[in-house]
Amino acid sequence: MRIMVLGGGGREHAIVHAFSRSKVTTKLHCCPGNPGIAKLAACHAGNPSDPFQMTALCKRLDIDLVFIGPEAPLVAGTADALRDAGILVMGPGKLGAQLEGSKVFSKNFMKKHGIPTSSFDCCQTIEECAAAIGKRSAPYVVKADGLAAGKGAFLLDTKEEAMTVCSMMLDDMILGAAGKKIIIEDFVEGQEMTILAITDGETVRILPSSQDHKRALDGDKGSNTGGMGAYSPVPWVDDAFLKKVEDTILMPTLEGLKKEGIPFCGVIYAGIMIKPDGSLSVLEYNVRLGDPEAQVVLPVFGGDFGEAVFACCKGDLAKVEWPAPECVALGVVMASGGYPETYQKGFPIRGLDQPMPDNILIFHAGTRFDAQGQVVTAGGRVLGVTALAETLPQAFHSVYQTIDRIQFQNRILRSDISKRVW
Ligand code: GLY
Repeated sequence: MRIMVLGGGGREHAIVHAFSRSKVTTKLHCCPGNPGIAKLAACHAGNPSDPFQMTALCKRLDIDLVFIGPEAPLVAGTADALRDAGILVMGPGKLGAQLEGSKVFSKNFMKKHGIPTSSFDCCQTIEECAAAIGKRSAPYVVKADGLAAGKGAFLLDTKEEAMTVCSMMLDDMILGAAGKKIIIEDFVEGQEMTILAITDGETVRILPSSQDHKRALDGDKGSNTGGMGAYSPVPWVDDAFLKKVEDTILMPTLEGLKKEGIPFCGVIYAGIMIKPDGSLSVLEYNVRLGDPEAQVVLPVFGGDFGEAVFACCKGDLAKVEWPAPECVALGVVMASGGYPETYQKGFPIRGLDQPMPDNILIFHAGTRFDAQGQVVTAGGRVLGVTALAETLPQAFHSVYQTIDRIQFQNRILRSDISKRVW
């Protein structure tokens, strides 16, 4: 099949890599892609969040199946337009994408369908915020309703700080329309993990478990980022745990979508908190693969990912073989100094063209070609280096041995990815 992957980050590089190893793939395309993806797929300029432009591009290229990587095109309705044009699509339409695109929708959805999540209030005025904050104790969790590129969730120590953030969203509109409604919810303590599943709307299949490191600095300190590294599978996750996730979260989510008349073919990402008593609480849904989680989950997936996606798009997911992972993966993100706040871009990246060990994968995230055709830094998270091995300590040594062969000015990275679990 002719496959199109929409997006151009590390997640999309991992998706393209997985399709490049699949027997269903005859030709790979990506829009817009990046210099790493360009080694595996034909890259096309364009805006994945423009449904009409994407439909025209995919029609022109006679694409059979489109995998939509990031959330913004899903929320914008790109999947709906492609499906209307008769193309198979991995990713929900606008209605299903509300699970990620609107925190108000997703919290109400969970409450209505009995999916465990923390108590919350939905606020549209400063008075409502004051009442919601007043009845809670520290730390205060304040979230913007809409998509905010990872900048919409706040954990605050005092009532005053929480009120300031609410005022910045409602009065100063720092997040624009995304911050016009606010969720204020109870803080949940515990251990966080990512469950990625794919569904055709009837069957749900869980991909290998993963955990990412969201904080910028070693020891899980510093600012919250999109993720500085990840590992998969999580050593302590067993079949009983996955069954609990399926029974209490994933299947009720599917049933809820059906009851609401919302078709859903794509990825369900459940950000889960495991509370000290072992019970689960859903922190958030996303409707796409996690990043950097995809950079470790897809390489350890034991089956043919392209085949699984194709079956999912046809409503045949139940028939797909689902072998367990045979190895582990550990991925470390190389970022631009200053990330996640301000950082400089445009630095040449050295060492990308040298031969790498067979167990190493390098995923491009924020890179681009400069006018001379050399690869330079172009974002906060620049590259992800993934090592495959039998154990996490082996993968750890392998990844950090390799990582110093790739250099760019102001490079930062964490030196302790996965250490918290071994
Ligand atoms: N790594 C977190 C996310 O993809 O949302």
